[in-house]
Amino acid sequence: MLPSSQPASFSLDLEAVRAEVLACTRCKLSLTRTRAVPGEGPPNAKVLFVGEGPGGRENETGRPFVGPAGQLLQELLESIGWKRSQVFITNIVKCWPPGNRDPLPEEKAACNGYLDRQIFALQPRLIVTLGRHSMEKFFGPGQSISRRHGTTTRWRGILCCAMYHPAAALHQPSLKAVLAADFARLPTLLQQAEQEFLQELAASEPTEPAAPPGEADRQLRLF
Ligand code: URA
Repeated sequence: MLPSSQPASFSLDLEAVRAEVLACTRCKLSLTRTRAVPGEGPPNAKVLFVGEGPGGRENETGRPFVGPAGQLLQELLESIGWKRSQVFITNIVKCWPPGNRDPLPEEKAACNGYLDRQIFALQPRLIVTLGRHSMEKFFGPGQSISRRHGTTTRWRGILCCAMYHPAAALHQPSLKAVLAADFARLPTLLQQAEQEFLQELAASEPTEPAAPPGEADRQLRLF
């Protein structure tokens, strides 16, 4: 369950992950970044958005999705009545790939433990993947985003929904309506995930009060 590539003493606390990301030198992206971008959002966020990696503006500010793709993400959130401040936003890799190139497999692998720990700390009800690299982590390799966008899977029990990356809609404007339609499904998906969570919680409640200490032994001795 826990990331195996981490030292034995690592913490699952969001703030600890943030501090480690800011000082990280696990891959070559640390040599060219200005600022690492750990992600942001409230620690009790029910929805986690996972993008690909910081762009130029994010590299300068240390905050995720603050450039043009971030502007579209904000609009999409508003279109479904959600606020950016209510959700957690992070990326597959936490440092800018120079020239906005795709992150390399070794860079994704070096960063993977940070994302796993963020998910473990947040325990989100719903994960929304933005773009192919994020989709691959949760949906598995070799998936086609044009087929899987708007669909769901479970990753370690958590409901995940795949979306095109907002930057894709900036390059190909016809995708904007597709993204908006996929986003429109999110409130219902979250409601469904919440209901399932509460049902599982209720099912895990003990049905009879536990016997007081000593009582269990006494009952056993009767047989
Ligand atoms: N694109 C991403 O995938 N993440 C960001 O933070 C910004 C742009």
